Amino acid sequence: MTAPILKNDIFLRSLMREPVPYTPLWLMRQAGRYLPEYNETRARAGSFLALAQNREYACEVTLQPLQRFDLDAAILFSDILTIPHAMGLGLDFVAGEGPRFAHPLRTEDDVKKLTVPDLSKLQYVFDAVSLIRKELDGKVPLIGFAGSPWTVGCYMVEGQGSTDYRMIKTMLYSRPDLLHRILEINTQSTLEYLNAQIQAGAQAVMIFDSWGGVLADGLFQEFSLSYTRRVLDGLIREHEGRVVPRIVFTKGGAQWIEQIAASGCDAVGLDWTANLGQVRQRVGDSVALQGNLDPMAMFGGEAAIRKEARRVIDDFGPVKNGGHVFNFGHGISRFTPPEAVTVLVDEVHTYSRSKHQA
Ligand code: CP3
Repeated sequence: MTAPILKNDIFLRSLMREPVPYTPLWLMRQAGRYLPEYNETRARAGSFLALAQNREYACEVTLQPLQRFDLDAAILFSDILTIPHAMGLGLDFVAGEGPRFAHPLRTEDDVKKLTVPDLSKLQYVFDAVSLIRKELDGKVPLIGFAGSPWTVGCYMVEGQGSTDYRMIKTMLYSRPDLLHRILEINTQSTLEYLNAQIQAGAQAVMIFDSWGGVLADGLFQEFSLSYTRRVLDGLIREHEGRVVPRIVFTKGGAQWIEQIAASGCDAVGLDWTANLGQVRQRVGDSVALQGNLDPMAMFGGEAAIRKEARRVIDDFGPVKNGGHVFNFGHGISRFTPPEAVTVLVDEVHTYSRSKHQA
């Protein structure tokens, strides 16, 4: 079966530093609780996991933000914690409290028993990818994703979100061998998982290293970046006759930008603390940059949203060969008024045209 022609490939072209007419955008967590229609589908599904594990529901919520807004990419509706769930750690989303594992990894015995999961346990994800591609019908490209081995490892050891990362850092400083074993297994699992997403139809992939920035210099390279690099090394490079671009997002990672840019990715995602123009000077045109509006700017009203969007575009500077994908510096807040997103999309598309020489 041949895939329909991609009608809007500006996102993919910008990632590959090819000329584009304007700055493409999509938003981290664009399908989520700020949309009433998402909450409605989630209520019908019964729970977050039931939503993510059913391909019709997953497809429905993936497409919801595209029906409302003129976004340049879709992102698979799923979560970075599907892999540890498939490993048997028992994921649950407690209302209002975020993810929680029934069996976090705490002892040597827990770690010894950990294995790469059978990919068939994640078949629901690949089925969702295929269905979304079919329903998108070439409208915009579909992004697949996974967490970095380190970031997923944080949840596996902590058992939930954390503010100080005490459990995983205790393991890191006292039994680094155990942590390396977890990261090794996560690396292999993530690689197989992302390649299966690509084979099912993901046209770009993103690795979320949301907690890489909590590591000390030196330890970031050893416990996070080296494993992310190994995932990148093993990824399928081309599918359906086209390069599958890779984006790496390390929250708090701007200080390591040169090293992240050299990891084998095509684009680096940045949080809002970085200045895109300065980062661009440091990495040249070796990678594209994705970001980096503070998601809280969405609460400042229309004039502030337009001003801050222009600031990000101006910071990046003049564009000859793509290289910028507009996004937030982290996920959209669940309290964001949807109308604010309409304003943002309009400003990014309209204002950025004047900066492009294509
Ligand atoms: O971007 C998208 O629209 C695609 C879907 C997506 C989700 N999670 C859906 C989701 C993506 C890309 C993720 C990634 C993810 N999940 C990350 C990395 C990105 C980041 O934000 O740093 C992390 C750390 C997780 C783990 C996770 N999942 C947390 C901490 C939570 C609870 C906190 C929260 O924001 O609610 C989730 C749940 C989750 N994943 C929700 C969504 C839409 C909300 C759950 C709900 O509907 O109750």
